[in-house]
Amino acid sequence: MKEAITAIKGFKDILPGQAGKWQQVEAVARRTFSDFGFKELRPPILEKTALFVRSIGEATDIVEKEMYTFRDRNEESLTLRPEATASLLRAYIEHHIYTSDQVSKLYTMGPMFRRERPQKGRFRQFHQIDAEILGLADPRADAELMLLLHTLFQRLGLSRLQFEVNSLGCPDCRPSFRLALVAHLAQGEELLCADCRRRLKTNPLRVFDCKIEGCGRALVNAPLVPDYLCLPCLDHFRKVREYLDSFGLNHVVNGRMVRGLDYYQRTTFEVTIKQEGASLAIVGGGRYDGLIRDLGGPDTPGIGFAIGTERLISLLDLPDERFLDPPALFIAAQGKEAADLAFLMCNRLRIAGVSAEINYTGKSLKGQMKEADRLGAAYTLILGEREIQEGQAELRHMGRATQQKVKLAGIETEIAGIISTR
Ligand code: HAM
Repeated sequence: MKEAITAIKGFKDILPGQAGKWQQVEAVARRTFSDFGFKELRPPILEKTALFVRSIGEATDIVEKEMYTFRDRNEESLTLRPEATASLLRAYIEHHIYTSDQVSKLYTMGPMFRRERPQKGRFRQFHQIDAEILGLADPRADAELMLLLHTLFQRLGLSRLQFEVNSLGCPDCRPSFRLALVAHLAQGEELLCADCRRRLKTNPLRVFDCKIEGCGRALVNAPLVPDYLCLPCLDHFRKVREYLDSFGLNHVVNGRMVRGLDYYQRTTFEVTIKQEGASLAIVGGGRYDGLIRDLGGPDTPGIGFAIGTERLISLLDLPDERFLDPPALFIAAQGKEAADLAFLMCNRLRIAGVSAEINYTGKSLKGQMKEADRLGAAYTLILGEREIQEGQAELRHMGRATQQKVKLAGIETEIAGIISTR
């Protein structure tokens, strides 16, 4: 055999045994988005590189180190999307969606690409379930998004997740915080790693994201954004929290949560869990009021979140098998004539909307019954020479171990009727 080609490091297959869980999560998410008035938009996964540089920010880890960027054959620089927000906003601007709806609620789901170091819960191709509310500066938008998330978690049986919230201020109050932070970090500059020393000049907020111990020590007693908020930002943050309280939504303020993307203003939030000592973010989101304007659109506010789908699925403590879609009927056949009839019957039933299966490899009757069991078929029908001669066969309900005789003439209609009322 030739040497087999494997998948790229950090890129994962979602195998048939696992895909049922994905379908379930996506279905619950779609239903929840629909209940909250969100519409799906599916942007392409490849965009012009400038879109991400301009939105996520030049001095961020994503843009500096993690993007899959390449030159197309015409020398244009293209990038596999590292997140969905920028693409959704580009589409919103390009198709003038703001002219038909003053407030747009959009969602999308799909693969994202970041060339990070693969480890538990971190991949180079991963998936996000992303939602954005565009055109609403009101704190109700912030609270509604978190309530949507909370509802989605509850519907998936996840009830004890806690939101961390913060406000990063606005262009009026952020500069005074930035000055205070730089002054504080400059005192302990020798503790900072080389990257953070550079960040001190380019993007000091990013120091909060650094995992290196010295940088952590330099941040002890550092000023925190919520202490520097201007009155309108304070008021906005207070109202968001009041709405969250009115929905009984558990949350804590984490003044150190700055998020890894540069476009945020005012409210930011995350849902994180502790796993094997490390904390893992399941959801990240926040408000980005100047971004649509910076991307060439109208001066429209926006806020959104993205769930890491792999991480969300890893929290669902249910066996993959629970999500497999078993056939309603398995037709076990003995002999050539019966096998041909089973093949026809099975496909006619499928066309009529009954999920049905047969064995294609000539297994013994016992082997076929085992297969029906393994697949979890609700019913089996046994077809042999005798059944064909008698013009009727036994339909067995596997769970109840009961049987009933069905006539072969017009069997598809009869079985479809029995199975739809089971
Ligand atoms: P983010 O925090 O970069 O935000 O990513 C959101 C979520 O995607 C994370 O909390 C995590 O669950 C998942 N994620 C990120 N990187 C990886 C990875 N390498 N492997 C597995 N999962 C990962 C954003 O992307 C923003 N666009 C969120 C947003 C939407 N803000 C406003 N609107």
